[in-house]
Amino acid sequence: MFNSFKSRRNICEKVLVSGIKPTGNIHFGNYFGAMKQNINIANGGEYESYIFIADYHALTTERNADNLRKQSLEIAATYIACGLDLNKVILFKQSSVPQVTELTWIFNNLITMPFLMRAHAFKDSEAKNSEVNVGLFDYPVLMAADILIYGGDLVPVGQDQKQHIEYARDIVGFYNRAYNVEEFKLPKELIQKEIGSIPGIDGQKMSKSYNNHIELFCSNEDLKKRVMSIVTDSANPEDKKNPDENNIYKIHRLFLSEDEDMKLRAKYSNGGYGYKEAKENLLKVIMKWREGKKEKFDDLMSDENKLVKLLEKNGNLAREVAEKKMEIIRKQVGLV
Ligand code: ADP
Ligand code: TRP
Repeated sequence: MFNSFKSRRNICEKVLVSGIKPTGNIHFGNYFGAMKQNINIANGGEYESYIFIADYHALTTERNADNLRKQSLEIAATYIACGLDLNKVILFKQSSVPQVTELTWIFNNLITMPFLMRAHAFKDSEAKNSEVNVGLFDYPVLMAADILIYGGDLVPVGQDQKQHIEYARDIVGFYNRAYNVEEFKLPKELIQKEIGSIPGIDGQKMSKSYNNHIELFCSNEDLKKRVMSIVTDSANPEDKKNPDENNIYKIHRLFLSEDEDMKLRAKYSNGGYGYKEAKENLLKVIMKWREGKKEKFDDLMSDENKLVKLLEKNGNLAREVAEKKMEIIRKQVGLV
């Protein structure tokens, strides 16, 4: 059932790299904020595309090996169920390519601590708990290695990852200057500005950490429970409502075409559209979106071995590309 990726190095001029951390089930914030864009661009076939499950990055917070294994497979199954074309993309686990940690180590020696201390993620976690692990501190460097080892030109990410791509660009400069080469090219982020931050059922940014998320492939009962508990104000059904201040609308619009969106906006602003009806309509739209996809996801997860094998095979392809790059790098820095 899985077709194999054939190298697109000779077909495509540009390289796309993107990763997603396997830290729990994928929700619609992840999907609309990052994953959907990755799938669309990669499937377009214009890029040689590397999409990976960032399991090394997940180690900065995940301590349960079974969870990490399972969540990694869930990300792979989600991507495939949502239509990622495995003929056009290498989907693999970051850890299939240990060369990225080798490159991270080489980069580490060109970077100062104050440079990394400016990272938002580091500052945030330092503000929350004073014990930041070295992996988390070094997170942007591993991410730069991820991108640069495959020669990434374009990196589709969510707004929150922008600073990490800036770090990757700085690291290109540090390396090229230190060794007086033009080895790495500058990657560029691709951020869907119009999507912005997707709210969760309580109106804050949708996030697993706030437990306000709606999972793509949760059970129908959970889905219903989550949708029906979206927080609203106390307006009456007949009241005119501003869709832009409404959490149900902000989630609902993500599933609609421009035309459908205009119609939905009109329902809110004309009045006579109550929150119960709005939630029921949203539920229907999500159920329709899941048709076929949820079955595919469940099917893929029912044969984990097959998924593991697919990821291994793709991991081998990515590792070959990375190893070729590292052979050059090792010479440049004097390891061989
Ligand atoms: P969580 O906040 O649930 O832990 P992650 O930080 O693992 O989610 O998110 C992975 C990616 O999904 C992020 O880099 C971001 O691009 C995207 N993303 C997550 N939540 C949202 C959201 N609420 N709105 C838009 N994009 C999001
Ligand atoms: N840090 C990214 C996130 O949390 C995941 C990631 C790891 C990534 N390596 C990457 C994204 C390389 C793009 C490119 O969402």
